[in-house]
Formats: sequence, structure tokens, C-alpha cells
Amino acid sequence: MKPTRGRVSPRSLRGTARVPGDKSISHRTLILSGLAAGRSTIDGSNRGADVTATARIMGALGVTIGRGEAEGQVNVESYGRRALREPDGILDAGNSGTTLRTMLGVCAGIDGLCVVTGDESLRTRPMLRVVSPLRQMGAAIDGRAQGDLAPLAVRGGDLTGIDFESAIASAQVKTCVLLAGLAASGRTSVTEPALSRDHTERMLAASGVAVVRDGLSVAVDGGAEVEPLHWRVPGDPSAAMFLLVAAALVPGSDLVIEGITLNPTRTAGIEILRRMGADLTVEPTGQANGEPVGDVRVRTSPLQGISIGQAEVPALIDEIPALAIAAARADGETVITGASELRVKESDRIAATTRGLRILGADAEELPDGLVVRGLSAFGGGTVESFGDHRIAMAFAVAGLVATEVVTVREWSCVETSFPRFLETIERAQEGG
Ligand code: S3P
Repeated sequence: MKPTRGRVSPRSLRGTARVPGDKSISHRTLILSGLAAGRSTIDGSNRGADVTATARIMGALGVTIGRGEAEGQVNVESYGRRALREPDGILDAGNSGTTLRTMLGVCAGIDGLCVVTGDESLRTRPMLRVVSPLRQMGAAIDGRAQGDLAPLAVRGGDLTGIDFESAIASAQVKTCVLLAGLAASGRTSVTEPALSRDHTERMLAASGVAVVRDGLSVAVDGGAEVEPLHWRVPGDPSAAMFLLVAAALVPGSDLVIEGITLNPTRTAGIEILRRMGADLTVEPTGQANGEPVGDVRVRTSPLQGISIGQAEVPALIDEIPALAIAAARADGETVITGASELRVKESDRIAATTRGLRILGADAEELPDGLVVRGLSAFGGGTVESFGDHRIAMAFAVAGLVATEVVTVREWSCVETSFPRFLETIERAQEGG
């Protein structure tokens, strides 16, 4: 438990800030480097617990992963996908859904037994969305609740490509199936109802794999070789969102967040904040392995409530807790619908966000698939549960910056998942960057 307001005083955020390396991209750099034969290097990798879990599991499958000299630099040596070996222990994904679901796709391609599990939260999260297509491809998978809940035991190796229609727009599902597809015979395609983040497709293409896109379908051919690469990981827009909301709300702020990915499947949160009236400018600065990169500047301005519907949700799924804090300080009502996936994230984020807002005196209401926030609330203080969910913890730390009393966030240490230096980054921005 850590009193965030007590430590983070409500001074304006100014100057420049950097956020950790993009978490989604960092996971994928480790996985693709492990599938490639040879030496890959990664600059700017996220150092949080989730990405560390992926590194640990790739290590258990026989890939050598070491820290480079610079912060966030990682060196990976692998004999390639075909040399990945049956691990001699249980693979623990910790709190990371991305690790567990994407690694199931890798494990399905290994001729042997892999047992994967995670922490208490992850063991409650649905896995059939990836287990079903992997079974269709020929992997034998068993687990609790007929294979919907970890621990899961995968016996893989002899896979056949499928055309998979996913009921949900999920990059984790898409990635899992495409990674298994590399080890399958024939072609594997995934069709999703809306485009989820497309890092896997971009990164596979950057590492030499022919990726065939046709509308909402994407396909790879079995046996395609992944080449080793020098990866540069841009900053994480989902981490940046907490700082952007903070600077939009705390009077007198003018903050530039440097070097985040501007991949259009990740920037909907920035667009929403702009639609709410935030004074935002986005400046593209270049590319990193097929990912557009740039700086985002935000200055404090009054915000208005908005409606966010199902079509927009996949591209801002991780930003909703932060946007809900902005909504509580905006003029008018914000209605978010079509976001039932939030109920199966690291916590039930609809319940956690609504409860926390109400504790601070805001007017918020749960919907089955979203929430309604009536704005212009003055936040009082209080103790808010993070439910061990890093994004809930950081969202309420931001609320604490504009609260009239101390806001305490329980289980604060969960920020280690994605943004270990969150408080330091805020404090530095308050000192002028
Ligand atoms: C992620 C995909 C999203 C997101 C998660 C990271 C990824 O999950 O919420 O934080 O790296 O593929 P879903 O794909 O399940 O929506």
C-alpha cells in the first residue's frame, strides 16, 4: 500500500519524459529472436515483470538471453525454432496473459510436453480462446475447466495449418495462432472481427517471414524462417497514457513524451483524449522495425465527456482505466460500451475502475460491457484497491494528482508488471523533465 498523493504532489508536469519500452513489442522481440537461428539484439526492451516472464520461459526452452550493457539492452542467442526443447520444469507466466497465450503457440510447435501456469489472477483468465485453435491444429492440450484455465499441459509437435475465425479481436489470440502456424504444415490464417494490435504481423515481416494480409485476415506459411534482427523497441503508448492524462488534468502542465510507437492500432487512446478536448500534438520522428515512432505533446485544457463504442475498443483496450480518470474530470457524461473484454484482464477492470472512482467521490456506474462516468467530479481522498492490476494502480495514482485529499492505492507493487519507475517518472516531470 502506498499513498500516491502523499508522494506525488499535484505540481504541473513539464518538459520531456520517456516511458518504458512497449510491452507488446518487447514480448514479441524475445519470442521472435528465440525462433530465429543466430544472435539478435534488442534495445529499449521493457524491464517489467511481464516481459521478464517471457524471457524466463524462452530461456527454459533453450534460448540464451542475457542483459546487454545499456539499460534495456538484451542479447538473444538461439539455434532457432526447430531446436527449442521440452523444458524440464513448469513454465510460469506470472501475471502476464500475453506471455501465457503467445507462449502456448510456441509450445504447440515443440515436440514434447510443456506445462504452463501463472499467478492467481492469470489462473482465472480464459484460455480456451487459444486452446481451441491450437487443438484444431493438432496440439493435445489439457487443463482445468476442460482446458480453459491454467495450469495447462501442451503436447505439441505435429501441427496442421488452419483457417481460424476468432470471435474476439485479440492480438494475443492472433499471435498465438500465427506462431503455431510457423511450425505447422501448410498455411495458417486468422480472421478477427476487428483489427487488434498488429505488432506480430509487422515484426514477422521485419524478420523475413512472408505475411499475407487480406482485410481482417492474416496468414503465414508453415516452415517460414524467422531471421535474427537488431530490434529497437519504441516507448509504450499505453504507459504514456497515464502521463498524458495526468498532464491534461494537472493545471499548468506542458509535457512531451518522447519516442513512443505511433502504430495506428495503438493510438486510439490518444485520439480519444484529443476528442475529449485535450491539447495534443503528435510528431512522427521515424520508424523502428516497421513501427512508426514519434513524440506526443500535451498541455492542460478543459475536457468534455464522450461516447466510446465497440468499434473503437480493441485499439484502446489498455487505455480505458486512464481515460476513465480523465472522464471523471471532464464536462458531461462519458459512456463506454462494447468493452466486456475488460472484465477478463489482469482484474475485472470495469468493476475495479468504477469502484475506485466511487470511493474518490466520482459519479460512475458499471454497465455489463462498459461504464458510465459523469464528469466534473472533484476527487476526494480514499483508499483504492488496485486488485493487483498495474493499470488500475497507475490510473488511480493519476487521480491522486488532482485529488483534494490523499489517495492510497493498495498493492501498489503491481506497477512492477509494466512500469517499475512510474512514480519516479511523474516526479521527474514535476521537476520540469
Ligand atoms: C496484448 C494484447 C491485448 C492487451 C494486452 C497486450 C498483446 O490483449 O490488452 O495488454 O501484447 O498482444 P488482447 O489481445 O487479449 O485483447
